[in-house]
Amino acid sequence: MAMVTWKDEYSIGVTEIDEQHKKLFEIVNRMQVLLCDELILDKYDSIIAIINELKEYTIYHFKTEEEYMIKIGYKKLFSQKVLHHDFVEKINSIDLSQIDNDQNNYLNEILYFVCDWLVTHILKEDKLINA
Ligand SMILES: [Fe+2]
Repeated sequence: MAMVTWKDEYSIGVTEIDEQHKKLFEIVNRMQVLLCDELILDKYDSIIAIINELKEYTIYHFKTEEEYMIKIGYKKLFSQKVLHHDFVEKINSIDLSQIDNDQNNYLNEILYFVCDWLVTHILKEDKLINA
């Protein structure tokens, strides 16, 4: 299983934000462990719990990031806010009633989306904050 890990190249040079990004990767990792766990027959409750954790932590993290951008007078604050908002909307739009149909497939899709979004967002947007 290829683990989704935080890499040095993801550092934006702001400790608090880097630490929060690491925590997001840690949540994504646990999603991956859950996905690959063949011993749990019904993952429904675990999937709901981890999606909720991801949602709550992401909202908290975006708030921290946006406050930092305000503090330093970052010019692209508004476009970051839109991207953050869209991500939360996407997570909120997950249809939890669909999870029971094919749990692993569903979790895999969410995992892929979150991981891809996170890496791209850090490298293409967050890296510019402190550049
Ligand atoms: Fe961001």
